Amino acid sequence: MIELAQRMSGINPSAIREILKVTERPDVLSFAGGLPAPEAFPVEALAHAHADVLAREAASALQYGATEGFGPLRAWVAERLTQRGLPAHPEQVLITAGSQQGIDLAGKALIDAGDVVVVEEPSYLAALQSFSVYGARFEVVGSDDEGMRVDELDHVLRQTRARLIYLVPNFQNPRGTTLSLERRLALVRLARDHQVAVLEDDPYGELRYSGAALPPLAGLDKDAPVIHLGSFSKTLAPGLRLGYAVADERTIRALVIAKQAADLHTGNLSQRAVARMLESFDYDGHLRELRELYGERCAAMLASIERSFPEGTVYTRPEGGLFVWAQLPGGIDAAQLLEDSMREKVAFVPGAPFYPNQARRDTLRLNFSNRPPELIAKGMAIIGACAAQRLATFQFVAKANHRTDAAVSPASPRRTP
Ligand SMILES: Cc1ncc(COP(=O)(O)O)c(C=O)c1O
Repeated sequence: MIELAQRMSGINPSAIREILKVTERPDVLSFAGGLPAPEAFPVEALAHAHADVLAREAASALQYGATEGFGPLRAWVAERLTQRGLPAHPEQVLITAGSQQGIDLAGKALIDAGDVVVVEEPSYLAALQSFSVYGARFEVVGSDDEGMRVDELDHVLRQTRARLIYLVPNFQNPRGTTLSLERRLALVRLARDHQVAVLEDDPYGELRYSGAALPPLAGLDKDAPVIHLGSFSKTLAPGLRLGYAVADERTIRALVIAKQAADLHTGNLSQRAVARMLESFDYDGHLRELRELYGERCAAMLASIERSFPEGTVYTRPEGGLFVWAQLPGGIDAAQLLEDSMREKVAFVPGAPFYPNQARRDTLRLNFSNRPPELIAKGMAIIGACAAQRLATFQFVAKANHRTDAAVSPASPRRTP
């Protein structure tokens, strides 16, 4: 048997990836994965760009490249972020293999074993997993409809010497909530005052379906140590594995060294093809179409939950992103509910794995981007009916127990002589 490093002990496979192995079978109507709609992938433009790059610059595209990334793509990202309120130079941009690699590189470069990472609860599971590999200890702050509870963060930063604050400010995974402007300002002030690094993970920022865009944390205060992560996974296609990290040049150098050890550089062909495509592709037009498609699906999901889930279900109302988060009434265990709904071949992800500490078992995450409204309605009707059934059983048993208790209780009027 090959003996594994100490750091692998206690690192479990992602509970969600394990669930997805079952729920993403083709015969299952799944709302489990965070999958974009494949029909929205810009296949033709990507095919054309790849062909063009291979025809004109195959020698460079198929050769090793710079760890920092392909220059024109770095420049495009810097300009785009500058427009979105995060002024950046190309030298501050590192092209990564998705924003997941940005999370991992930040963990590698910043976290020593035993360091405290502050996360919101619930949190993006794959980030927790990544930080765990580097020996992070988690301090947890709550979240509500305005995102991370920054008032609790203040308290935590006073009590601990935290190394990193990790959050998803826009349309969070798993809750779909967005950090308000007031909290953004308070958070960067705290980060600056305590000089604690912030990892702003923003793969969904450009997928807003209602409300006004809010500025990236990294653009709010130049003295606050913020690393911003973005991705083309949800706006173009996740199979490209293209994302980016943006920070001050010293931090980028550290991330570049961490990346050299990981994979030398992000796939050259993907980078060049996307850079070529973006020269002529109507990216904003594409985003408008995506927003319309996903906005409609989000609305369909909210209406279906309202219609089909038992009374007392509480759920978030995302203004963007891919997920709705629901909390079931009567203490229904979402893992058991998944067993019920899987019998009907409908899937979702129970919320418990997203909690670093004390899990709430009555929660679930629902993805709306991957199915059309009619299938969303069908799926929510089935999950809702399963939940109602569980609730009815639960209430029946509770009533029966109550009757039994009353029958044997010495205080029962029927027993009183
Ligand atoms: C919050 C969050 N961060 C990072 C990622 C990873 O995305 P990427 O495909 O860019 O690596 C995801 C994917 O779903 C996510 O939800």
